[in-house]
Amino acid sequence: MDTSPVLNGGSPHLENLWYLAGPAKDFKTGKISGHVILDQPVLIGRTRQGRAFAFQDLCPHRGVQLSKGRIEGDNVVCPFHGWRFRPDGVCAHIPSIVTSQTVDTEKIRTRPYPIREVQGNLWIYMASDEAADSDPLTEPFRIPDIGDRGPDIATPLVFETDMDNAVFGLLDPAHGAFVHSNSWWRNPGNLKEKEKRFEPCTMGFTMVRHKPSSNSQIYKLLGGELTTEIGFHLPGVRLEHIRVGRHHICNLTTVTPTTSDRCLVHNFLYWTQGWLNTVKPLAKILAKRFLQQDQWIIGLQNEALRFEPRMMLIHDADIQQKWYMRLKDAWRESTENGAPFKNPIEPATLRWRT
Ligand code: FES
Ligand SMILES: [Fe+2]
Repeated sequence: MDTSPVLNGGSPHLENLWYLAGPAKDFKTGKISGHVILDQPVLIGRTRQGRAFAFQDLCPHRGVQLSKGRIEGDNVVCPFHGWRFRPDGVCAHIPSIVTSQTVDTEKIRTRPYPIREVQGNLWIYMASDEAADSDPLTEPFRIPDIGDRGPDIATPLVFETDMDNAVFGLLDPAHGAFVHSNSWWRNPGNLKEKEKRFEPCTMGFTMVRHKPSSNSQIYKLLGGELTTEIGFHLPGVRLEHIRVGRHHICNLTTVTPTTSDRCLVHNFLYWTQGWLNTVKPLAKILAKRFLQQDQWIIGLQNEALRFEPRMMLIHDADIQQKWYMRLKDAWRESTENGAPFKNPIEPATLRWRT
């Protein structure tokens, strides 16, 4: 058994990737809001035509947060001296200028960020430098086989930890029976030995499609012949994709670091079976309770790691966390060298008791 200690990263953010900004419906037409994403101040707005836009939330004049201003027409007006900015971040007007003064406002701008709406969510591309903004290396994550439908349930929560620990939590098969020890899920008394096959995929790895084990209570409620596949994708996206006959239930979780010690975690449930709408209020409560259990344990871990930031990863239950670290290194190396990304993960079979 490999019990080599690993340092608790606190590593700098992984750039040149799409991060989830939030459910699209939270960004209303004709409104702007201020966010911090990867330690960057970001303004996200929506024009009167409904098009989402994002730019650095700093006025190039004297640095005030533009999101504290207002939107007029489709221009954002700085609260300090009223400079106006178009959705592409370019300055459209400086009120203090008199007719005899010429300033080429087209040359003044705040950094725009690529933003896309996919399956009811807004994704923002966080590039390492402005030159890379216009040509994203990847596409935002898209759930296969469910078309453009939006989520049926969205649960956002803030986790007081760095990105690595939040992702470690997503990839941790051994905590379920302890942290989520509910009768409807698992409990420590009925651990079973599991064997799962993993394959690399474009930006991560996938636990290949299989029938869920008999001690996973919640699957039984869905009835029918069902199979599930669980994928992880950089930078911090986990998708469990359940098929029941011709129907799909998708459980998407995303991690977006706001600062180096805080993350915004979103969980989304998508389904194609109409009858599940009848249990939506209950599913909403359960999803939130489940995520709050993770939030609680990650918070405890974070408090303790302040004293001694060391951890160990063991075979096989913590191997996925090691793969995540390797994927990060490979991504960083490829973007720094301008070389194509080569996924370092090999197919493997992992065993554990959960
Ligand atoms: S600081 Fe924004 S207009 Fe002056
Ligand atoms: Fe969990």
